Amino acid sequence: LFSAVELAPRDPILGLNEAFNADSRPTKVNLGVGVYFNEGGKIPLLRAVREAEQARVAAEQPRGYLPIEGIAAYNTAAQTLLLGQSSPLIAEGRVVTAEALGGTGALKIGADFLKRLKPAAKVAISDPSWENHRALFEGAGFEVVSYPYYDGATHGVNFAAMLDALNGYPAGTVVVLHACCHNPTGVDLGEAQWKQIVEVVKARGLVPFLDIAYQGFGDSIEADALAVRLFAAAEVNTFVASSFSKSFSLYGERVGALSIITDTKEEAARVLSQLKRVIRTNYSNPPTHGASIVASILNTPALRATWEQELAEMRDRIRAMRNGLVERLKAAGVDRDFGFVNAQRGMFSYSGLTAAQVDRLREEFGIYAVSTGRICVAALNTRNIDVVANAIAHVIK
Ligand code: LMR
Repeated sequence: LFSAVELAPRDPILGLNEAFNADSRPTKVNLGVGVYFNEGGKIPLLRAVREAEQARVAAEQPRGYLPIEGIAAYNTAAQTLLLGQSSPLIAEGRVVTAEALGGTGALKIGADFLKRLKPAAKVAISDPSWENHRALFEGAGFEVVSYPYYDGATHGVNFAAMLDALNGYPAGTVVVLHACCHNPTGVDLGEAQWKQIVEVVKARGLVPFLDIAYQGFGDSIEADALAVRLFAAAEVNTFVASSFSKSFSLYGERVGALSIITDTKEEAARVLSQLKRVIRTNYSNPPTHGASIVASILNTPALRATWEQELAEMRDRIRAMRNGLVERLKAAGVDRDFGFVNAQRGMFSYSGLTAAQVDRLREEFGIYAVSTGRICVAALNTRNIDVVANAIAHVIK
């Protein structure tokens, strides 16, 4: 049966974890996967999470099946975080939200639903985009194209080219947009640009699919939801895949959600019924633990305040690491101006390192990065930052 099965390549991001774990060098640093490590080099267990978990254990809750769409309190909290406390769309019952297995799971159930709805549509992703976007939408049966996004010369967005591409797509094309903290570049659109994107998407009848995995890592929880709220205010039917993996440091619990903006409450009920079919035939219903922790934090004022503070601490520490890296690269005698790293947002920096330089970082120094030059700044700390800066200086000389 399996004699003709080919060996698949390692995943470009998660495959790095495998290689990193197998590396015995004590000075190794994993700048590959998008995970926040604290100053001690550990994935933090947030205080808010710990408290919510203790309360959950004490309550000795049984583990029955959840509804197919997940925990209601979680779904409501997730959509409120995206659309705001006073969202008229939520009040009108026009937003469908289903708990999903992380942001990836949300993208997949959205993609499967869209494939049934718009079988001939193409999906457009940014160039570059998260490594898994293309594979995920192709896996759901779509042809995937890409629209211009990052401009290496300016370390900014080639906005005119992006708009041109969007303007050229036929109605019904699914456009995947990173709502904040663009992965992999760290380069986001500004408010005026988002407004233009919303206008074009609406005018051309495109289907926006927003991916928001880093809400709170850019400027703030509220500010980072700008793109979602602009689409909502424009009453565009929008898909939103959101994730709490990073913002609650609950990577392994697979806490995400798919939210869909519909036109009426009645339409929302029909859309939810179809989503439930997709979920039921994929994994039946979602897990309980992570979502109940997130729901209790978001719905308990004291826990929520603790969480918001911890999220702000993560955001601030990443910013400090960006500054530190830029300074140290300068101090290490690097001519190239790395100041653009300070302007990038979220966990990543598109460093401009070539695939060959990334290979040398790994081989000579045990420093792991994605071959595109994406580095996870959130994995830097005051103990490894000099090693990393000096290694980068070495390979780019
Ligand atoms: C990343 O981009 O590194 C993260 O989103 C983790 C993943 O699933 O790829």
